[in-house]
Amino acid sequence: MEFVEQLKSSVNILNVIGEWVRLRKSGVNRYTGLCPFHSEKTPSFSVNLDKQFYYCFGCHAKGDVVNFVMEIEHVSFYEALKTLAERHGIPMPKRSQYSDEDSRLRGVIFQMHELAQETFRASLAAGVGEAARGYLAARGVAAAAAEQFGLGYADGSGRTLVRLFQQRSFPATEIEQSGLVRKRDDGTFYDYFRNRLMFPIHNESGKIIGFGGRALTAEDNPKYLNSPETPIYKKSHVLYNLHRAKEAIRKEDRVILVEGYMDAIGVAAAGFGAVVASCGTSLTSPQVLALKRHSQRIVVNFDPDAPGANAAERSINMLLDESMQVRIMELDGGLDPDEYCKQRGAAAYQGRLEGAKGYFYWLADRARARYDVHTTEGVVSVLKFLLPAVQRISDRLERMTVANDVAGYIGVDRGMVLDSFRKAVADRRESALVQPKEIVRADEKGLLNVLLSSLEGRERLIEDLAGIEILNRIPTRRIYQAVAAVHASGALPTFDAVRSRLEEPDQNLLAEVVLSAEAEGIAISLDYGRQCLERLRRSEGELRRGELKARVKEAERSGDQVEALRLYRELVQMERSGELPG
Ligand code: GTP
Ligand code: MN
Repeated sequence: MEFVEQLKSSVNILNVIGEWVRLRKSGVNRYTGLCPFHSEKTPSFSVNLDKQFYYCFGCHAKGDVVNFVMEIEHVSFYEALKTLAERHGIPMPKRSQYSDEDSRLRGVIFQMHELAQETFRASLAAGVGEAARGYLAARGVAAAAAEQFGLGYADGSGRTLVRLFQQRSFPATEIEQSGLVRKRDDGTFYDYFRNRLMFPIHNESGKIIGFGGRALTAEDNPKYLNSPETPIYKKSHVLYNLHRAKEAIRKEDRVILVEGYMDAIGVAAAGFGAVVASCGTSLTSPQVLALKRHSQRIVVNFDPDAPGANAAERSINMLLDESMQVRIMELDGGLDPDEYCKQRGAAAYQGRLEGAKGYFYWLADRARARYDVHTTEGVVSVLKFLLPAVQRISDRLERMTVANDVAGYIGVDRGMVLDSFRKAVADRRESALVQPKEIVRADEKGLLNVLLSSLEGRERLIEDLAGIEILNRIPTRRIYQAVAAVHASGALPTFDAVRSRLEEPDQNLLAEVVLSAEAEGIAISLDYGRQCLERLRRSEGELRRGELKARVKEAERSGDQVEALRLYRELVQMERSGELPG
């Protein structure tokens, strides 16, 4: 465990998570943002600097920096350690006890992709790459852009990578699983990509996980050949260029979504770095979530043809489901984004970008072109067409605004539009049941924070806990027990130590208690801890008095006057002693 501890203490969780999630400071030690692990509109994801811990109040995702990397990159414990160690220049122990078979295989496949990339780039620069270089020049891709995007060339021999991998003694089963080679019936291998312009595809942390290969001639089919799914490449999770674009996306608080590799490169080369491509597949929810971590505002800029418009239409609902703010950007002259930037220039593209319409106007335009709004059936059809998008607007005020706009835009009565929208939304609304929750009192929360965070507070107060009965009845009772147990074992009841003794629901409670105390700006001091302890003691008296009163009533009701009197005396006694100072 030593290495893990060392790693955790030399990595700042805020910097790591900050690469993936837009975070805002919301307390001395606390940052919040939209949770990367579930879909939400208002931020319930918290990072605590002091405890080096994250927690989501919505989906209860939680953990330390290693857990975060595991979850967000879908990797094993070992790979998460490795990623963090590499990024922070901390040497990993050589023969590591943390490695498992899956991680090892993925590590090997990453290596093969690195080798392939070196090979493709070398080929593009060499004699064999002449035709590919010519192709790039003809399409107006500058050498700098080719370099920046790591473009390469897979030669036509069909055995360059196979040979290389065999020379490096990768086992046949691993070579096969890389997705970079194929197996013939006779068991021999050949390169999957032959005579193609190669576009490396990276994951969000910038590692190459696959390739797209474009044919150099119209006769060569298919136009694009993409890596198959492998242990390191999951198509539905990846957006082309996201690792380069994410900084600009955050800075500009907006992402441009295009369809193709060439579009992303062309748009980026024109100076719009905040661009990603979906690469021909229809947009998936993991892809949208990945974008949403950086910005909630998106401009969809698909090809101007019918398939492009249809894909845009489909993606709108997917984006609205994740409550993204969607605009649609249209280019004139039948040009795709890459061609537009090259032929009309960056300023013209900028103009189009700024003029991008809210998705509703774009949808309404499409509906108007399709139906005749001068007839009642036409209007009904238009409204029907818009309903799927309307149903996804969860905010009532926003829905009313949209209804207003739509009514004006298609020239029908506002009340009618609102009415049909209301019905549609009612149809879709799920009855979300809210679970009743035990309320954590301010003093139990305060005392717990003091015990966890103040050395002095802990030393002075922990012995007093044993006598306080109420600590066994409050919602955080198991956390108090864990604190006491860790203390009794002679160890420091740190956040991690206490957490490791708790079951999942109590782990969540612990995180909430710690994070909300910080959000409320509670001062953690011995004095404050004492105050909380006293209040708990006093309320314990109240609790006992309440119980006693109930027993008095009970005895009276059952006619046992002697018992009732005895209990009553006890109650008076208790109330007297409660009035004494101390
Ligand atoms: P150019 O045609 O060279 O301008 O490339 P593009 O990137 O503009 O491609 P296009 O708009 O035709 O297609 C958009 C994206 O869909 C491409 O970047 C590819 O990711 C994908 N795609 C296009 N054609 C094919 C194909 O034949 N097979 C596969 N698997 N994907 C394709
Ligand atoms: Mn194109």
